[in-house]
Amino acid sequence: MCGIIGYVGPKPASPVLLEGLRRLEYRGYDSAGVAVLQDDAITVRKKKGKIDEGIARTLADQPAPGTMGIAHTRWATHGEPSDENSHPHLDASGRIAVVHNGVIENYEHLKERLLDAGHEFQSGTDTEVLAHLIGVHYERLRDGDATPDLLNEAVSAALREVIGTYGIAVISSEIPGVIVGARRGSPLIIGIGEDENFLTSDSNAVVAHTKQVVFLNDYDVATVTAGSFEVHNLGTDTADVQISKLEFDAEDSQRGDFEHFMLKEIHEQPRTVENAIRGRIDSEGATARFGGLNMTPAELRSVQRIIIAASGTSWHAALIGEYIIEALAHIPVEVEFAHEFCYRMAPVRRDTLVLVISQSGETADTLMALREAKRRGHRALAIVNVVGSTIAREADGGIYMHAGPEIGVASTKAFIATLVCLELLAIHLGRMRMLSAGQATKTFKGLEALPAQIEQVLAQSDAIREIALKYAEADDFFFLGRGYSYPTALEGALKLKEISYIHAEGYSAAEMKHGPIALIDEKTPTVFLVPQDFMYDKTMANLEMIRARKGPVIAVASEGDEQIARIADDVIFIPKVRDELNPLIASVPLQLFAYHLAVARGCDVDKPRNLAKSVTVL
Ligand code: F6R
Repeated sequence: MCGIIGYVGPKPASPVLLEGLRRLEYRGYDSAGVAVLQDDAITVRKKKGKIDEGIARTLADQPAPGTMGIAHTRWATHGEPSDENSHPHLDASGRIAVVHNGVIENYEHLKERLLDAGHEFQSGTDTEVLAHLIGVHYERLRDGDATPDLLNEAVSAALREVIGTYGIAVISSEIPGVIVGARRGSPLIIGIGEDENFLTSDSNAVVAHTKQVVFLNDYDVATVTAGSFEVHNLGTDTADVQISKLEFDAEDSQRGDFEHFMLKEIHEQPRTVENAIRGRIDSEGATARFGGLNMTPAELRSVQRIIIAASGTSWHAALIGEYIIEALAHIPVEVEFAHEFCYRMAPVRRDTLVLVISQSGETADTLMALREAKRRGHRALAIVNVVGSTIAREADGGIYMHAGPEIGVASTKAFIATLVCLELLAIHLGRMRMLSAGQATKTFKGLEALPAQIEQVLAQSDAIREIALKYAEADDFFFLGRGYSYPTALEGALKLKEISYIHAEGYSAAEMKHGPIALIDEKTPTVFLVPQDFMYDKTMANLEMIRARKGPVIAVASEGDEQIARIADDVIFIPKVRDELNPLIASVPLQLFAYHLAVARGCDVDKPRNLAKSVTVL
């Protein structure tokens, strides 16, 4: 959510920043801007709108020369999307430029103080207030010539007054060759190049230039030049600086021949499953093995209850995880929205393991849940995709999804990767309890067969598009299922609504008769998940209730099911798999259905309105 890139080195900065912004655009696309420094003067260019229509055109008409600068792509928090509210923002003197991710919670109080002191503001943002505050401290601390230390100290002094979250990059027109960055609750990374360095909120923006990075910690303040970087921590005064290597290539986050990232990522899912399984099956012991749980078998054996906290699609994966873990490991599981877990006073027993799930590893709600669990003294594990992300680093242990960069704002492959991790975790815990080697082996075999079965579903993409086109004018959809298919239906509805803006509700097929069935009519199609699993007969009975009220039905059903073909208006057949693996195969046609429908309605699938990848505000 919002993206930052800073560059200092020998190259013209604007093209480097623009390319970085394009790689960050999935983080926010309300507006974007750059501040480039040359000859003691900062040139700021910023524009409302997506990068290609906005800032890229502006820079083509009005270049910003210089070999160092900072840039930002915005997802609005304070102040509507507009040229004025775009970052970078300047201080009152116009010498200091700031880009900022996060929210300054006490900005109104700080702004009042600055207004009383005669400051004038051009925007409605909290970031401009921060820029002015840095400027005030810069003047106050100045003693003779401006130095890199002065900028660092001014930033540090301002941040000591700030309540809220920030990842920032700051430059001063008087201090060429220096960028100061700082973070609290919003990621910031130094990219270490050859005679050039970078500051960014997301390693995707720098991976084409370097794989050597430093993930900054909360309260770190970094001074970055072309040939060096220094970090100190506002809390401890010493900083824990570790150089890490990025484990993906720039091409991994390219769209290739696909029309959209979402479609590319849907098609990657056979590999996603393979990557999430690789090296984790212990065939001899008929169990799963993990390198990073950091818990002894005895500790894992003593877990009596699991709470899974997550948001959005990861929360849907958690709900499916509840069904899987309870079935395979017989451990009671409770699933919480991460934000609810943080603030309600849920009594949590001592023998409870907390598990958080996050693709990005930066979702603020989920990070807060992790911290709350640890504060209460619980062991807290995480299933995370982004290596080196804050949640990955703060969890006591965990499992990486190994899904590679997910750029499509609507999560697809990370969802499937999470489900694989949950299956493996359930087997690991189950084999310490009552799960037999035979049962575990059957699930392993089912997992290993999945990549080829997902390919089979992907091959039906054109047929699924035809079905989607038939319903492209519908205003409302239901997604229904029972058992494992209930949370899968919730995810199917979320995919449709977030990229096509069609109202879609996921429901338990059985719950419909308790009220929502009143909404069914001939204009309201239902996507019915009706695989031949342990709930088949009961789900079919619910399907008949929808048909009886003239609701059109699109069924997602097991291959060879002749009964469904007679009842439903349209059927998407999926391979028959074990019950606990059904969500991993049934989600794929739902992703394709949402994708094709959104494209048919002319929606920008990779940049849905009002959304951004990775929600780093509370
Ligand atoms: C939906 C989607 C979001 C995320 C949610 C949590 O397609 O992508 O609902 O799942 O914001 O994000 P992570 O998993 O990064 O914590």
